[in-house]
Amino acid sequence: MAKNIIVTGGAGYIGSHTVVSLIENGFNPIIIDDFRNANRIVVEGLKTILNQDPLILEGDVCDAVFLSSVFEKYEPEAVIHFAAYKAVGESVAEPLKYYQNNINGLMNVLNNMLKHNIKNFVFSSSCTVYGEPDGAKEVTEETAKNLPSSPYGYTKWMGEQIIEDVFNANPFLKIINLRYFNPVGAHKSALIGEFPIGKPNNLLPFVTQTAVGKQEMLTVFGNDYPTPDGTCIRDYIHVCDLANAHVKAVDYLISNQNGLLENINIGTGKGTSVKEIIQTFVKETGVVLNWQYGPRRMGDVIEIYANAKKAEQLLGWKAELTIADAVRDAWKWELKLANQI
Ligand code: UD1
Repeated sequence: MAKNIIVTGGAGYIGSHTVVSLIENGFNPIIIDDFRNANRIVVEGLKTILNQDPLILEGDVCDAVFLSSVFEKYEPEAVIHFAAYKAVGESVAEPLKYYQNNINGLMNVLNNMLKHNIKNFVFSSSCTVYGEPDGAKEVTEETAKNLPSSPYGYTKWMGEQIIEDVFNANPFLKIINLRYFNPVGAHKSALIGEFPIGKPNNLLPFVTQTAVGKQEMLTVFGNDYPTPDGTCIRDYIHVCDLANAHVKAVDYLISNQNGLLENINIGTGKGTSVKEIIQTFVKETGVVLNWQYGPRRMGDVIEIYANAKKAEQLLGWKAELTIADAVRDAWKWELKLANQI
C-alpha cells in the first residue's frame, strides 16, 4: 500500500509540485494547508495533472489539536514541512508574525512526530542560512553558517538549530534539512505554479509580471557589485527538480534504519546573474521586457551558489532542467494566469 506522507503547506508553490512528484513515485501525500498563502486554483490544477482528487486537510500547522488528530488518523511514514511564511521584506516589517508562525509551526510538527512516533522528517531550509559566504561563493554544507539578514532568514536558521537540538535529544529521528537555493519555474503543464501575493519580491515572478503588463518596469537592484556584469548571482533551481529532491530525500530516510541528521544543498551548482536571467527570458520567450538599473536592495547577498555534490552522492539527485526551461515554464504559467492560453 502507498505510504502516507504528510505535506504541510502542500497547496503552496514548492509543496504542490512536490505532491505531484510524490504521487508519480507511488506515495500517498496528505496535504495540510489553510490556504492563507495558497490559491485554490492549485487544487484544480493538481486534480487535472494527477487525474485524482488530492487529499487536502484544511487547518493550521500551529494548531496542536488539529495536527495531532491528523497524525493519529493517517499514521504517516514521513512528514515534509513546507508551511511557513517566506517574504523577506514582510518579515522585516512584521517579525513577530514570522517567528510566531514559522517557529511555532515547526515545533508543533516536531512535538507531534515524537508524540506519534514518526521518525522521518524533511525540513524546508534555505541557502539563507549561509548569509553572505565568507570565502568561496560556491557553498558546501560544511561552509560556515552566517547570521541571516532578515527575520525570515532567522526562522530558517533557528529552525535548523531547533532540529539539531531535538535530534540530539532523540537520536532515533531521521531528518534531512534541504537547503533550497532559488526556486523558479512552474509545472510544464502550466496548471500549477507560484502565486505571489501583492507585488512580487522574487526576481522571476517580477520579470514575468512585467512582461505580461501587471508591473510597469522591472528594477535590477544594483549593477555595481563585484561580479562579472555587476549584478548579483544566485543559483536558480527549477521547482520540478526541487520537488523531485523531496522524493529522493523521503526514499533515503525510509531506506535507512538508523537515526540521521543531514543538511543537503539543493541547487544546480551554477551561478547566474540577474542580467543573465533577463537575457535568457528575452531570448526564450521573444517578449519585450521593460527594465532598468536601480539602487542596491538592502540585505542582498552578492553572490552565492550551491555545491550540489552531496545531494548527488547521498540522494542520487541532481538538477535536470535548465534556466531556459524555467523561464519558459514560468512564462507559460504567467500567461495562463492572465487567461492568455
Ligand atoms: C530570498 C531569500 C531566500 C529565500 C527567497 C524566498 C535571503 C538572503 N534570500 O532570496 O532565502 O528562499 O528569497 O523567496 O534572505 N532582484 C532584482 N529585482 C527584483 C527582484 C529581485 O534585481 O525586482 C534581484 C535581487 O537583488 C537578487 C536576485 O534578483 O539579486 C534574486 O532575488 P530574489 O528572487 O528576491 O531572491 P533572494 O533574495 O536570492
